Amino acid sequence: MTPAPTPVCTAVVGLQWGDEGKGKIVDRLAAEHHAVVRYNGGANAGHSVVVKGERYALHLIPSGILYPGKLAVIGNGVVVDPDWLLKELDGLSARGVDASGLVLSSRAHVVMPYHKDEDGIREDVLKHAGSQRPVGSGEGQAEIGTTKRGIGPAYAEKVQRATAVRVGDLLRPEALKAKIDLACALKAAMLRDLSGGSHRLDPGAILEHAARAGQRLAPMVRDTTYLLHGLLADGKSILFESANGTLLDVDHGTYPFVTGSSCAVAGIGVGTGVPVQRLSRVVGVMKAYSTRVGSGPLPTELSGAVADRIRTRGREFGTTTGRPRRVGWLDLVAVKYSAMINGATEIAMTLLDVLAGFDELRVCTAYEVDGVRTDRFIPDADLARATPVLESLPGFGEEITACRRLGDLPAPARRYIDFIQAFTGVRVATVSVGPDREQTIDA
Ligand code: GDP
Ligand code: IMO
Ligand code: MG
Repeated sequence: MTPAPTPVCTAVVGLQWGDEGKGKIVDRLAAEHHAVVRYNGGANAGHSVVVKGERYALHLIPSGILYPGKLAVIGNGVVVDPDWLLKELDGLSARGVDASGLVLSSRAHVVMPYHKDEDGIREDVLKHAGSQRPVGSGEGQAEIGTTKRGIGPAYAEKVQRATAVRVGDLLRPEALKAKIDLACALKAAMLRDLSGGSHRLDPGAILEHAARAGQRLAPMVRDTTYLLHGLLADGKSILFESANGTLLDVDHGTYPFVTGSSCAVAGIGVGTGVPVQRLSRVVGVMKAYSTRVGSGPLPTELSGAVADRIRTRGREFGTTTGRPRRVGWLDLVAVKYSAMINGATEIAMTLLDVLAGFDELRVCTAYEVDGVRTDRFIPDADLARATPVLESLPGFGEEITACRRLGDLPAPARRYIDFIQAFTGVRVATVSVGPDREQTIDA
């Protein structure tokens, strides 16, 4: 018997604070993989894909879905909001997208209405606590600036165990009722008090809603771990799609200003059951500058006309919440750290076209903390104490959105790419010069 060929397994991860353009890169790579798998996060993600001028925003459904019938797997590590998932499915169906390849892990955890309520209420409480601090106390903001999609509370419930609802529970009315009743009993007083008395929980209504969603989702629910290992045994290739970014990873990001999951490559093992040594390729996606949504340090942050220009040209407004994204020069200390955490074998650089028209481009190659220079990233709130050491590189005047080969790019743009490769030690294998699938250079 001839053994099945060793399958190509590729991971696509964000090397910054999310929104690096993972959706575009995943969509492109999906063509050459049998299945696309989300392993972390939930509807906090917003992944944009543009095909022939048509823009799609995906939150829970893997970005490979735009290839008809493509196997698209939501792994056990994702926290699934059934309302968002069904809305997304209906939206795709209304646009004629064949999403029949979508499969959902029976062990993925469910984001319940009380998780979203708790997320919002906690943020309000933290914001109030922050505003009580004396001005100039140096303590910074207290609220995380979450997407209020219930992500943190749903992952916390998963770790607390007894009251957590998994997708499989949606199909078992009695178990579901017991869990919802218990969860409501435990949460009612806390949510009511924290909301100043206004919050009410109605376990009966929550149960009915969840069970109805379960009925619609039932045909998609599977044991995805055995499904994926079956594919591997047959020599089929798998593409793993990260949500959020390495600097938002709950362990390796700028804690506490992070999300609730393991966004880096290590999350693949946890969130799918496929061991990370099956990966043959790790594509780290970075944009040509920095952005961040929500609170937390961003050492190279810009304001004024330069920030406005980047924000407008890059459409830097959240795909999920519509919030304007904070923008800054490229922070290579951060990118190099993320490449190290993920073992990136190549870089895909996006949004280079946004930087056209600047006389000079600045990149951060070190930090100064209390007068001492360091080349190490600081993965917590202390990063706020770092002043960026910026190097200046020549800018490029001409628009590059029509370039399709490296040689088409102006010399300063190529120099920018070379600088990134030399600094990170990782090859820039893809350069994206516009949102569309076609606006891409294989370097
Ligand atoms: P993701 O969360 O990592 O998938 O990224 P988002 O989709 O939230 O944000 C990236 C944004 O940049 C989206 O609006 C994309 O359509 C857009 N985009 C991706 N690559 C490029 C590029 O090379 N140039 C430009 N101008 N836009 C891009
Ligand atoms: P994609 O997949 C950008 C940020 C939020 C907030 C923090 C915690 O599109 O790159 P959460 O709701 O997860 O508890 O919020 O993390 N955040 C993202 N920022 N892109 C994302 O996803 C994000 N997912 C979460 O803004 O600061
Ligand atoms: Mg996004």
